Formats: sequence, C-alpha cells, structure tokens
Amino acid sequence: MHVRAIYPGTFDPITKGHYDVAKRASLMFDELVIGVAASPNKNPFFSLEERVELAQEVVADLPNVQVREFTGLLVEFAKEVEGQVIIRGLRAISDFEYEVQIAGVNRHLSPSIETVFIAASQDYTFLSSSIVREIAKLGGDVSSFIHPRVLQAFAVKLG
Ligand code: COA
Repeated sequence: MHVRAIYPGTFDPITKGHYDVAKRASLMFDELVIGVAASPNKNPFFSLEERVELAQEVVADLPNVQVREFTGLLVEFAKEVEGQVIIRGLRAISDFEYEVQIAGVNRHLSPSIETVFIAASQDYTFLSSSIVREIAKLGGDVSSFIHPRVLQAFAVKLG
C-alpha cells in the first residue's frame, strides 16, 4: 500500500523544527505533501507564495516531499491530494490538548483520514514561527533556527 501523508501548517516561515518533523515523516511514509495553509486569520508576515517557495527550497533535499498550498479545510485538501494521513509535530505536552482536539475535529469531518503525531526534536521544543519572526524583526540572530535561504528572505523583507 502506497501511503501519502500531509504535513499541514502556516509555515510563516518554515523553521528547522518543521524540517525535522518533515524529514522524520518522509522516512515513515512513501510520500509527504507539505500543505501550506493560507491562514488569512493569522495575517502572515510572508505571503502564501513566499511561504510555499521557501518551504520548497528548504525540503529540496528530501526526494519524496512536495509542497502545495491550500485555502480551505485541511480534510478537503487531504482528499484533493489523496492523502491518507495527517502529520502533526508535538513539541511539548502543552501542544497535546489542542492537537487532540483538532485531530478529533478532522476525524469527525473525514473519518478515513488518520492523524499521526511525531515527537519533534528536543533541540527545537521551544521554537515557533512567531518566535523566529519576533527575534528577526528585533534584529536578533535566528540563523540557528532557520535555513540560510529563509534567513535571506527575512533580510530582503526587513530591508
Ligand atoms: N517546530 C517549530 N515550530 C512548530 C513546530 C515544530 N515542529 N510545530 C508547530 N510549530 C509552530 C508553528 O510554526 C506555529 O507557530 P506560530 O503560531 O508562531 O505561527 C505554532 O507552532 C502553532 O502551530 P500550528 O498549530 O501547526 O499552527 P499553524 O498555523 O502552523 O497550522 C493549520 C494550523 C493550518 C494546520 C490549521 O489551522 C488548519 O488545518 N487549517 C485549515 C482549516 C481547517 O481545516 N480547520 C479545521 C481544523 S482546526
């Protein structure tokens, strides 16, 4: 059986923590589709197009991973790309309650799609995209949290 998994998120921008989860998932499943959500309610710093492009460059070394954007419901996107599994990374116990709730909602909406949790690397348990954005905007060093290409994108965007 060929299993295609979806790794959804806003990826504003993709961090080394996201890459770590994507890499682990890519080794577990035949194919991985990174689903970059438009997330207009989060008012993203990088445009959807930029977030997709950056994610593509960051995961370019993972042969069975592709990046797509989506705007509607995650379960609809999963159906569209024929994904059977949703991947979510767990960084800390505090992620758990929220993630179980979302997994429950998604199961209710589409019972055939399974959510699989992957424990994120210890190195990045404190990391989130908004923390990276905050530090970058204040001129701090975020080079250990993001791919050099993402660092460059921040430099361009922040002037
Ligand atoms: N390493 C580093 N950071 C991580 C991480 C990891 N392993 N895992 C999560 N994060 C960060 C994210 O970057 C995000 O940071 P931010 O809030 O600072 O931007 C934060 O942790 C929360 O992550 P998450 O809950 O994954 O939020 P998200 O916005 O990235 O993704 C969607 C949420 C897109 C998956 C969800 O909103 C969705 O499915 N939307 C579609 C609509 C839908 O179907 N809704 C019904 C189901 S709720």
